[in-house]
Amino acid sequence: MLIAPSLLAGDFARLGEEVKQISHSGADLIHLDVMDGDFVPNLTFGPGVIEAIRPYASIPLEAHLMVWHPDTYLEELKQAGVDRVIVHQESDVHLNRLLHQIRQMGFSPGVALNPSSPANLLEDVLDLVDLVLVMTVNPGFGGQAFLSSMREKIAKVAKMRENRSGLSFRIEVDGGISPATAEEVVDAGADILVAGTAVFRNPPYTDAVHRLRMAALGKKPS
Ligand code: DX5
Ligand code: ZN
Repeated sequence: MLIAPSLLAGDFARLGEEVKQISHSGADLIHLDVMDGDFVPNLTFGPGVIEAIRPYASIPLEAHLMVWHPDTYLEELKQAGVDRVIVHQESDVHLNRLLHQIRQMGFSPGVALNPSSPANLLEDVLDLVDLVLVMTVNPGFGGQAFLSSMREKIAKVAKMRENRSGLSFRIEVDGGISPATAEEVVDAGADILVAGTAVFRNPPYTDAVHRLRMAALGKKPS
């Protein structure tokens, strides 16, 4: 089980320092929410900012692209030093081509699903990805409440993986993940927990990451 703090809840005036601190917090990777103000009703940062913070990171970076035309940013994301690229199923009708392209460029490919999109939309791309991201809030903002109805979708994706041989993607959840919700998503089948508010708004980060990990394992923090 891996913990991926989302920089969206970090202090944007001190991004380099935030990335450095979170790299030494016991977290496994850093989740970067790229939003274009159109696919989702919010704007964040793009490849330029990611390139600027890359030198401060000592754990892998994943970019969660909440943008239309995700293919247009791939070259720059490569340049920026991103390790994994997660695209939304809803953002591109040629998902097969896009996921192949992401893999060919040397990224680890992931695919994300909005809360309103059923799990079976991913059936024909599951063999192309390293990761399926089940959104547990409607994307666009941090600090929203976990949608408990998504538990069933996580379990369904886990079943799809179990029932077909040769599939080894990880299941990630994103939105409203905290020590209060970590255990139920892990029980449903989640392998990677994205957490913005629960980590960056609850310093020190080492303790926040530890609390999440303990909660996910069903233990009280020591
Ligand atoms: C929401 C983003 C999330 C966000 C989660 O659109 O994809 O990664 O940062 O924030 P919390 O953990 O605060 O719900
Ligand atoms: Zn995200």
